[in-house]
Amino acid sequence: MAPVSFTLNGKPATVDVAPDTPLLWVLRDTLSLTGTKFGCGIAQCGACTVHLDGVATRTCVLPISAVAGKTVTTIEGLSSHRDHPVQRAWIEGDVPQCGYCQSGQIMAAAALLAKTPHPTDADIDAAMTNICRCGTYQRIRAAIHRAAQGSVT
Ligand code: FES
Ligand code: FES
Repeated sequence: MAPVSFTLNGKPATVDVAPDTPLLWVLRDTLSLTGTKFGCGIAQCGACTVHLDGVATRTCVLPISAVAGKTVTTIEGLSSHRDHPVQRAWIEGDVPQCGYCQSGQIMAAAALLAKTPHPTDADIDAAMTNICRCGTYQRIRAAIHRAAQGSVT
């Protein structure tokens, strides 16, 4: 065990866990931030996506030792009142079905729009590789376009 310090949702955080503990479990079990979900555990589904220094990152395979000194943003920290343009577009478009994959989808979409404010369908397809077992892909794509156009209320 060795303390690891990083910035989490705008505030300093320090945890003392085994250095190979995946960030996902530090978030969920140590820090009680359960908005980030476990799906596959092998970096394939994207349910565990957060921003690491602004980049969409799958946390189920990311050891906490690799997070030292970095900035992590989870779904809980994306906005203060669930009012990030992506969150508003998601609500307006009734994107979620069961909802399980959606925090990861939203974090991936927010990172895409931060880098590419007006993505094409091809940009979206390339960036949004998160899996949705409910098949909400069309609503996700439409919501990303709505958020990009700034046409959410
Ligand atoms: S749980 Fe991390 S990618 Fe599936
Ligand atoms: S909304 Fe159910 S898995 Fe995506």
